[in-house]
Amino acid sequence: MLERIQKIMAQGGIASRREAERLILDGRVTLNGKVVEELGTKADIEKDYIKVNGKLITRPEPKTYVILFKPRGYVTTSKDPEGRPTVMELLEKVKVRVFPVGRLDYDTEGLILCTNDGDLAHRFQHPSHEIPKTYLVKVDGVPTPDAISKLRNGIKLKDGMTAPARVKIVRKAEANSWLEVIIHEGRNRQIKRMFEAIGRSVIKLKREGLAFLTLGDLKPGEFRHLTAEEIRKLKEL
Ligand code: URA
Repeated sequence: MLERIQKIMAQGGIASRREAERLILDGRVTLNGKVVEELGTKADIEKDYIKVNGKLITRPEPKTYVILFKPRGYVTTSKDPEGRPTVMELLEKVKVRVFPVGRLDYDTEGLILCTNDGDLAHRFQHPSHEIPKTYLVKVDGVPTPDAISKLRNGIKLKDGMTAPARVKIVRKAEANSWLEVIIHEGRNRQIKRMFEAIGRSVIKLKREGLAFLTLGDLKPGEFRHLTAEEIRKLKEL
């Protein structure tokens, strides 16, 4: 598709349209090797070579949003100094490079949103957005009602009080219990630290939901693309 070069530059995030016009007028933009002299010059980003200050402009990658069921035993960073498996290896089949939004510990499994939409990722992680995160937590023993109210109302951690949380016991066995915990914060190791603060250690931790997103039929290691409707809802959060 033929488009004005300043529009292509703006869409590629190179410069605002006005700045792009300035760059063209200054002779800094070439089209297939020739300096662009007129502001109205059109080009096709798929076929033509447009360079700004000698650097080729490429088509911006389509915004992509997936949810991944991170298995235990994977790190949520792109590279691990210890050489452990990373979630990036599980995302290789996504056609563009996407990055995890937030983190899950190495030994935590569950839902993680991955995208190349930097703005959304940034907004999503900002504490003011208070995105609910739902965890299934297996702990040793059964926390007392008093301990559960502490978790619900806020508990003192070394980086301050936690915000109110929703906590309910979903299953009890002799030696362990399973609780569903919904928090709106995302501090480092928050769930584990909240349980440590009531004297219970977390044996297993799984994130089952993030805002309205759930794991559904995904199996550990699998991902799926979000639907257009889910993307629209995410942007509205
Ligand atoms: N809280 C934790 O302690 N660990 C996680 O991975 C996520 C939340």
